[in-house]
Amino acid sequence: MIEKTVQDALNEQINKELFSSYLYLSMAAWFEEKNLPGFANWMRVQADEEREHAMKIYDHILERGGRVALKAIEAPKSDWASPLEAAEEVAAHEAKVTASIHALYELALKEKDYPSQVMLQWFVSEQVEEEKNAAEIVAQLKMIEARESAVLMLDHRLSKRQGE
Ligand code: FEO
Repeated sequence: MIEKTVQDALNEQINKELFSSYLYLSMAAWFEEKNLPGFANWMRVQADEEREHAMKIYDHILERGGRVALKAIEAPKSDWASPLEAAEEVAAHEAKVTASIHALYELALKEKDYPSQVMLQWFVSEQVEEEKNAAEIVAQLKMIEARESAVLMLDHRLSKRQGE
C-alpha cells in the first residue's frame, strides 16, 4: 500500500504531466498556424509523450492500491513571440518538471517507498533527455538567429557603397 504523502505528491505530478501535454499541444497549434509543420509535429509527439508520463504514474498509484485523484488542468498560453521564445519556454518548463521529479524522489527516499523510487528513476533519466532535447532546439534556433543578424550586418555594409 502506498503512503498517502507519496500518493498525493504523485497525483500532483500527474497533473503537471497533463499540463505539459496541454502546453505542447497548444504550441503545436501555434506552430501549425505559423506554417512550421515540422515544429508542430515535434510538439505533438512531445504532447503524446507527456500523456504517457502521466499514465505511468497513474498506473503506479493503482498498482500500489492507491487512489488516483485528477485535478483541473490549467489553461496553457496560446501565443509566443517567436519559435525561439516557445523553445525557451519548453526548456524552462522541463527544468521545472525535473525539479519536481527530484523532489518526488527525495520524498520516496524519506518514506522508504522503494517501488516509487524505482518508478521515479525512469523519470530522472527521462528528464535528462527532455532537457537535452529542449536545449538543442534553443541552441539551434539561436544559431539561425545569429545567421540572420549576419545577413543584416552584410546588408548594412553593402548600404555603405557609393558610386564612383
Ligand atoms: Fe514529462 Fe517533459 O516531462
